[in-house]
Amino acid sequence: MNAPDRIDAEKAHHAAERAKFREMKEGTADDWAIIGQEYREFSKGLADRVLDHLRLLDGDFGGFPVDRLEHSLQTATRAHRDGRDEQYVVMALLHDIGDTLGSYNHPEVAASILKPFVSEELHWICQNHGAFQGYYYFHHLGMDRNIRDRFEDHPHYRACAEFCEKYDQAAFDPDYDSEPLSFFEPMVRRVFERPLNSMYAKAMEEEEAA
Ligand SMILES: [Fe+2]
Ligand SMILES: [Fe+2]
Repeated sequence: MNAPDRIDAEKAHHAAERAKFREMKEGTADDWAIIGQEYREFSKGLADRVLDHLRLLDGDFGGFPVDRLEHSLQTATRAHRDGRDEQYVVMALLHDIGDTLGSYNHPEVAASILKPFVSEELHWICQNHGAFQGYYYFHHLGMDRNIRDRFEDHPHYRACAEFCEKYDQAAFDPDYDSEPLSFFEPMVRRVFERPLNSMYAKAMEEEEAA
């Protein structure tokens, strides 16, 4: 199903049953049972929504030698071929997904999407990769290329510098044979299948155990 059809199907489904409150403080357990059921269904579509959003980067060059989708695929492909695990590769694939809406803070957008599903280290790498990427170009813009040094004593400094050196700053080659998005789809689906780190993860576990 393509993205517009899926959104229409989701809307039709959502119209079926609705909570009755007009203000949240009037809500009942029945209302929240309806919303909870809808939430569980909606959350199953997260991987599809993420993949749809990645496709928005297709054809978006912004003056770079490759478009933002190719840069994302190339970053992920380089990480995968270097033996990185699935969470790492998915972080690499998504690290610039925030470019469309987070024009001034794109790393934080990607990091927020990934946060429930990846390790604290991978979340930190994603959230801070912008400052570390600056090492490779800030000096061309009259800025301090060593701005990453403010994180010098952080336990994830080296891991973030390594991500940028080996994969992110290296992923602008128009002649590199990146894997297509379809190659990464199963990984995205597995990583987004269930949250590891959120207040909802515990609630889901408790409900499944009940
Ligand atoms: Fe970035
Ligand atoms: Fe990047």
